[in-house]
Amino acid sequence: MNRINLEELNFFDPEVLECPFDIYKQVQEEAPVLKLPGSDIFLVTRHADVRQVIRDPATYSNDFSNMINADSGSNKIRDVYKSGYEMVETLLTQDPPRHKIYRSLVNKVFSNKRIESMRGDIEQIANELIDAWIYDSEVDLLNQLCVPLPIYVIADQLGVPRSELPLLKKWSDASASRVGQLADEERQLQDAKDIVEFQHYFADMLDFLRDNPQDNIISDLANAKIDEGRLLTKPEALGMLQQILVAGNETSTNAISGGVVLLIQNPQQQQRLRESPEHVLTAVEEILRLESPTTGMWRRVTCDTEIGGVEIPEGAMVMVRYEAANRDECVFSNPEKMDVLRSNASDHLAFGQGIHFCLGAQLARTELEIALSALLNRTDNWALSEGKNTLLHHPNMLLRGLKELHITFTAI
Ligand code: HEM
Repeated sequence: MNRINLEELNFFDPEVLECPFDIYKQVQEEAPVLKLPGSDIFLVTRHADVRQVIRDPATYSNDFSNMINADSGSNKIRDVYKSGYEMVETLLTQDPPRHKIYRSLVNKVFSNKRIESMRGDIEQIANELIDAWIYDSEVDLLNQLCVPLPIYVIADQLGVPRSELPLLKKWSDASASRVGQLADEERQLQDAKDIVEFQHYFADMLDFLRDNPQDNIISDLANAKIDEGRLLTKPEALGMLQQILVAGNETSTNAISGGVVLLIQNPQQQQRLRESPEHVLTAVEEILRLESPTTGMWRRVTCDTEIGGVEIPEGAMVMVRYEAANRDECVFSNPEKMDVLRSNASDHLAFGQGIHFCLGAQLARTELEIALSALLNRTDNWALSEGKNTLLHHPNMLLRGLKELHITFTAI
């Protein structure tokens, strides 16, 4: 392991984010709560410390939208956002007691029971996507399975017709890019246009559904009552929809694509799953642990406090690194190794914990399980296509996803 001088660490450099695991190891040993040089940001990397932060919303507030909504200062970008709806804090960037009011509106929609009832539909979608290329010997797996599967599922739930799925993908990419904060100015401008387009599309749909209720999430939101009986304002409903859309697409896509690469790189583990398919549930947890599609999240410190012996002043920003906590050797033995039988794989923090625990965790787990099972049942001899994979990820502070994934295979 190459050690670096932590006093010179530029953690948000895309090159560091591309492969941060040696650095996490060093940080966990030398300074598990690290004040990033030249900033008021504290990086929290140990499993126990990350848990302490995310389970204490009074001390560590989710009121961090200024960190993810910061525009580059360009007037052009600001003008585009002005032509859309105000951004209202609802789920991820809201604190108690308001957070609970919004969260309870969507908890039912994403309940385990409801997700279980969607299983047949998700299996059908996965198999239809695979039908389209099963008799080829090579596939662009990212675009022919990993991207469309979660989009189709969420589109059905949002009541968006299949013909408009490219729009959903565009809007979700724009939201992910904005949250990731590493886009150049041109891309930020395009993201702003796409996000405002998203707002207007769903604002019109909300109007329609208030007059013509249907059985889907967006209709439920359009007609939900809060604060002693008023309807959600449009900015409130749009804020929630945007989070469900972006959180639901990118992360699940990244979990499936990252999982397939892990299984290609660990053929014995793949073989184990083929011989004992019942282990797929543990494999899903192990993939979430090693891939951690949401790599980290912000918190704002509300009062002088201390984590792991390090004093943190009121007003500082904390960045919890889920991907580091998920490889903490205090919790996971041999943490870099994939083990589809790992007994405590589900102790990972890939979905967070506490009041902001991922709303879509059960849906994401189900999608990953179904996608992997269908692929393992119907195809074999997986290999990365030569010359077509960089195995690099989109630069992003909070999300991790492969830029491309082409594989060769044989049909079973
Ligand atoms: C593998 C896939 C996924 C991963 C790794 C993931 C990860 C996370 C994490 C770590 C958080 C907590 C953020 C925090 O620390 O504050 C979170 C929150 C959230 N997730 Fe997910 N997520 C995934 C899939 C989904 C899906 C499918 C949906 C919806 C359809 C979704 C919707 C949300 C929402 C709305 C929140 C905010 C909840 C709140 O603040 O109350 N996620 N997710």
